[in-house]
Formats: sequence, structure tokens, C-alpha cells
Amino acid sequence: MNRIYNRMNRKMPNRLIFLMIVVPVFADSSKPPNFVFLFNDDQDLTLGGMTPMSRTLALMQDGIYLKNFFANSPLCCPSRAALVSGRYPHNYVSSDGSGCMKLNVSTPEFYNHTFPVYFKDHGYTVGAFGKLLNPTGTPACYHQPMPGVDDYLLMCNSDRYFNVSLVNANGHYISGFQPQDYLTAIVGNATVKFIEKALQNDKPFFAYIGPHAPHYPATPAPCAKDHHFLLRQQLPLDKYEEELITELFRDRWRSLLSVDDLMMDVVSMLTNHSAMDNTYFIWSSDHGYKLGQFCLPREKHQPYENDIRVPFFIKGPDIHKHKSLSEVVSMIDVAPTLLELAGIEVHPEMEGESFASLLTGKEENSWKKDKHIIEFWSQGDGIKINHYVDGPNNTFIGVRLLNESHNIAYLEFYENIVGEHEFNIEPCDYELFDLTSDPYQLNNLYNTPNMDRELVKELKQYLHQVVLCKGSQCHQHILT
Ligand SMILES: *[C@@H]1O[C@H](CO)[C@@H](O)[C@H](O)[C@H]1NC(C)=O
Ligand SMILES: *[C@@H]1O[C@H](CO)[C@@H](O)[C@H](O)[C@H]1NC(C)=O
Ligand SMILES: *[C@@H]1O[C@H](CO)[C@@H](O)[C@H](O)[C@H]1NC(C)=O
Ligand SMILES: *[C@@H]1O[C@H](CO)[C@@H](O)[C@H](O)[C@H]1NC(C)=O
Ligand SMILES: *[C@@H]1O[C@H](CO)[C@@H](O)[C@H](O)[C@H]1NC(C)=O
Ligand SMILES: *[C@@H]1O[C@H](CO)[C@@H](O)[C@H](O)[C@H]1NC(C)=O
Ligand SMILES: *[C@@H]1O[C@H](CO)[C@@H](O)[C@H](O)[C@H]1NC(C)=O
Repeated sequence: MNRIYNRMNRKMPNRLIFLMIVVPVFADSSKPPNFVFLFNDDQDLTLGGMTPMSRTLALMQDGIYLKNFFANSPLCCPSRAALVSGRYPHNYVSSDGSGCMKLNVSTPEFYNHTFPVYFKDHGYTVGAFGKLLNPTGTPACYHQPMPGVDDYLLMCNSDRYFNVSLVNANGHYISGFQPQDYLTAIVGNATVKFIEKALQNDKPFFAYIGPHAPHYPATPAPCAKDHHFLLRQQLPLDKYEEELITELFRDRWRSLLSVDDLMMDVVSMLTNHSAMDNTYFIWSSDHGYKLGQFCLPREKHQPYENDIRVPFFIKGPDIHKHKSLSEVVSMIDVAPTLLELAGIEVHPEMEGESFASLLTGKEENSWKKDKHIIEFWSQGDGIKINHYVDGPNNTFIGVRLLNESHNIAYLEFYENIVGEHEFNIEPCDYELFDLTSDPYQLNNLYNTPNMDRELVKELKQYLHQVVLCKGSQCHQHILT
């Protein structure tokens, strides 16, 4: 802190001198630092609110995370007033209960002493985009939002992500209802434009980014349009569907509480008979589930992570304790493994392979798979609560590659086919995801400049080889 403060003092002349000697101040060696301040609206920590922002989290790993950071007031305007003024909200409580959530922030005592003023005084250009203070009871929507702010695009009403009243230096306007009117996108573009201008003018900048997300009503951006036919035609979820999803989410967890009870009864019985040590416990599930992802209200039927990732735990005699592994293993590999653990011969027609060598340390690890195949045959026209969750074009095959350098899903969708030998026709849709940068599979890279053509060729070849294989032909050492 001190170092930054001292550096600023040394390198930043006061306003008067600054006006007289502009050029030397901004010589490259003494460039003042820029600031990008992201201030979300209602973003929690304790409910897992940071999780969706995985790339921002990765970005911030370079710095410091304050695990015990608190707001002075759990309400928008008071907390925002504390941020910009560096003073407690009790300094600004209005005498008559009116104003910005009971604060009077319309006084020069408040707005003349906020940090934008000081940054501007020290040669910065200051931009504020999205939500700064709350619009009600503030001058935000009447004139320049706050002294010191040079460039701005601020929202003049809360609780909406479309049809928003916005104000910028040119005046007011209302955004519309189209995808390009989504508030977070508008705020993002205005910010990027401001930064570009500052960089072109070689001017130090302070960019305040105040998205409304995830504040109520937390309207998500419109659904993915670069995905396959079934997803492209999804309508946004309506309130009724959202309620059903929330209820189902709760009930899914509640129903599992009883399964947990069941398991404890089993443990109790085995314990009573001193049989725990000689028993393997395996826990898995047939497939995953979706609740609202890709605008699908619920169900499975899709090749994405929600639907294909499932738990797998194993404990028992000779199994390593307290270990987690990142090798790729899939359902066909379970039966050969259980047989091997029981000392039973594995039938040669089994196409999966035993991964026992990963589990016990009894033999050298021979598990080398880094790909997993996904196959699905459309169940027909499955309309569920106003949404297609399955349909004729939803027959797909795909390969999931996961190793130390790659985390990729390559998918092919086919129209109306039944037998595996028909996969030699042209798919009607392709999808390609790099899950390292896009863990939620939102950006289809197929046929974009970011597609790795060599890799796609390799995955396509592997996929079609496996989709036609039978018996021991499918074993890894034969395929590669
Ligand atoms: C806020 O303070 C200003 C200046 O003191 C005053 O004119 C205005 O009436 C006050 N507003 C509220 C809502 O208290
Ligand atoms: C607030 O700032 C404005 C513009 O810089 C100035 O004209 C005004 O005198 C200031 N008011 C107070 C009370 O500091
Ligand atoms: C758009 O916003 C205006 C002003 O707040 C409101 O009167 C109108 O009902 C909104 N339109 C829709 C379709 O929500
Ligand atoms: C934001 O900018 C990008 C790139 O210029 C453009 O494609 C997109 O439509 C813009 N979005 C909005 C909401 O203006
Ligand atoms: C195991 O023994 C305890 C104590 O005798 C008993 O309460 C419990 O019901 C037994 N568990 C089962 C599953 O029988
Ligand atoms: C399958 O998708 C294509 C577009 O990719 C569309 O033209 C066709 O009508 C779809 N077929 C069915 C049965 O939905
Ligand atoms: C991961 O798989 C890709 C595709 O087969 C391959 O090119 C790459 O070398 C593999 N990386 C590692 C670390 O094995």
C-alpha cells in the first residue's frame, strides 16, 4: 500500500503542474497504473456465487484473495456510497428518510469527495458503466452522474436487464428487447470502448464496471444460437418453469437423503458382522441431469457435462485410501474392473477394460485412456413443459478428450438414424468445445478460426473407429 502511495506521490504532480508539463509525466518509464474495478450487484460469496466466473477467478489467481472481506452495509446504495466515498453510510443518512435508500447522496459533501474526483485531479480519465449508486434519489439520471466521471453509461432503473433506461453524455435512451440489448453486453461494450479510447490517447484510466448481475431478476443472456438444432430453437424459460426447476432441485436433494440413510443401514449391518473390511463399496449413477442449462427445463438426453459426468467412488480391500485420480474412465470399464477385483475372468467380448491397476497398486498402472465415447439415439419427439428436450435431430456421437494438455468435446449430430452403421452419413450439426477456457460449453468452436483442424481430424477418426468396433477390437492398445 505504502509503496503505491509513495510512487503516486513521486510521479504524479499536482493538478497545476500537470497542466503545465503534460509530456514528461507520461513518458513510458513513469506511466501511472490503470485501474479496472469490477463491482457486481448482489454477488454472494457463501452461496458459491463466484463459481460461474471461472475465467475471472483464474485471472485473479495472480493476485491476492481477501478471504475475510466485508461490506459495511448489506444494501446497495449504502454499500456503494461507502465504496466511492470511503466513509461510513451513517454520514449521509437523510433527515426525512428519503433519498437513495435513506441516504442523501445529493450533497456536495458527498459527491465532491468520492474517489473519481481525486483520480481525475491526478490526470486520470474516469469511466463508470452500469450501476454506480442506485438511480433513485441520486442525480445519476439528471446530469453528470458524479464529479470526476468523464465517460459514463449508467442505468436509471433497477431490476431489469432488457428495456433499461440508460443515460450517457448524449442523454437518455431506452434499450430494447433484442439479444444486443442485454444490459451486461451493453455495459461491457461501453467499458471496452472507453478503455480503447484511453489507451489510444495514452491517458491513465480508471474503469468502473458495475454490471447489474446477479441482482434480481437475474435475467440470463439469450440462449446459445451456435449449438445444434434442438438447442437453437429453445425459448427462454418462463417463470412457471423456473419455479418447477427450483422445486425439483430441492426434491432431488431431499430424495437422496433417504438413500444416504439406506447406506448407513448397510454399513450398520456389515459392521455388526465385522464384515466392513472385506467388502467393496462402489457408488455411481447412470447419467447426470440438467435443470435449466441450455434453456432446457430438465432431463438428460444431451452430450454436455451436466448429463455425462457422474460420481464414481470405490473403497474396499486393497483399494488406495484418500486418493483422487484424474484419469478418464467410463461406464463400459466398470464390469471388467469388478470382475478383476473378484478374481473372475473377464469375458473377451467386453469392450471396456479393467482399471483395477489404477486402484490397488497391486500391479503397475496400465491405464492409458484419455478419451471417452458418447452415443445417443433420439427417443423421438419428447416435448416436456413447452420445451423440446429430445427430438429427431438429437441422435449424436461424440468424443471427450481429457489429458494434461487437452480438455475437449467433439460432437456430431445426425438426423433420424437408427443403426450404428449409418454414422457414415454427413452429420447435420457439429460442435466442438474447449472446456479449459469454456467449462460450460457455451462457445461452439467448430468451423471458427479457433478450431484446431488437426485435432478435429484425429478425434473424428477415433470416434468413427470406436463407433463401429466390436469386442476386443475396441480395446485401447488396438485402437491406438
Ligand atoms: C440532501 O441535501 C441537500 C443539500 O443539503 C438538500 O438540498 C436536499 O433536500 C437533501 N435531500 C434529502 C432527500 O434529504
Ligand atoms: C463541489 O465541486 C464543485 C465542482 O468541482 C465546486 O464548484 C463546488 O464548490 C464544490 N462544493 C463543495 C461544497 O465543495
Ligand atoms: C418497458 O419499460 C417501460 C418503462 O419502465 C414500461 O412501462 C414497460 O411496461 C416496459 N415494457 C415491457 C414489455 O416490459
Ligand atoms: C458489442 O460489441 C461486439 C463487437 O463489436 C458486437 O458484436 C456486439 O453486437 C456488441 N453488443 C452490444 C450489446 O452492443
Ligand atoms: C447393529 O447393531 C446395533 C446394536 O446392536 C443395532 O441397533 C442395529 O440395528 C444393528 N444394525 C442392523 C442393520 O441390524
Ligand atoms: C434437422 O436440422 C436441420 C437443420 O440443421 C433442419 O433443416 C431439419 O429440419 C431438422 N430435422 C428435424 C427432423 O428436425
Ligand atoms: C492429449 O491428447 C492430444 C490428442 O490426442 C495429444 O495431441 C496430446 O499430446 C495429449 N497430451 C498429453 C499430455 O498426453
